[in-house]
Amino acid sequence: MESKRNKFKIRKVAIENDEWKAQALSVYENLLFVEPASKHPHAYFAAYKGRQMAGHSIVLHSDGRWILDGLRVKPEHREQGIGKALTEARIRYAVSKGAKEIWYCCADDNLVTICCHVRFGFKKICPAHHECSPKTAHWYKLNITTQ
Ligand SMILES: CC(C)(COP(=O)(O)OP(=O)(O)OC[C@H]1O[C@@H](n2cnc3c(N)ncnc32)[C@H](O)[C@@H]1OP(=O)(O)O)[C@@H](O)C(=O)NCCC(=O)NCCS
Repeated sequence: MESKRNKFKIRKVAIENDEWKAQALSVYENLLFVEPASKHPHAYFAAYKGRQMAGHSIVLHSDGRWILDGLRVKPEHREQGIGKALTEARIRYAVSKGAKEIWYCCADDNLVTICCHVRFGFKKICPAHHECSPKTAHWYKLNITTQ
């Protein structure tokens, strides 16, 4: 997927090698998101400006659920549509793998990420066996409907 206006490309990470790890580290500053995700079936999607990684994100399959995680865009590349494009790419990937629902979790005060996801149809939901209060992060779910 390519955005001509802002000149970034979204690609699924093909090889999880040292070069990818160093670039992902430049986005996150640590790899706290990446390491737990790698224990599950997963895919990483990254945004590139030229050869430089401008943003990174994760989609993983855990306990029967497809989950979006680890969305981060480098501060100097924000508000150019990269967060939305990474979210769209991961939703399409999960759907291509047969996802019937897709989940993500974030704190109520993270208004920017709510901007990136709620537009796709995610709805706030408290999953069974999960205690939800204003202090906790909240789960959002997107139901996939076939036409
Ligand atoms: C959240 C984040 C990924 C958004 O990335 P981005 O590339 O700047 O997002 P986009 O340019 O695709 O913008 C998506 C929407 O959010 C809005 N938005 C983005 N930054 C915003 C800001 N600072 N204030 C208000 N709205 C903002 C955009 O206007 C856009 O909505 P629109 O299309 O209606 O105009 C980025 O800010 C980030 O990395 N934040 C830190 C990490 C984080 O919070 N990750 C999520 C953890 S759950």
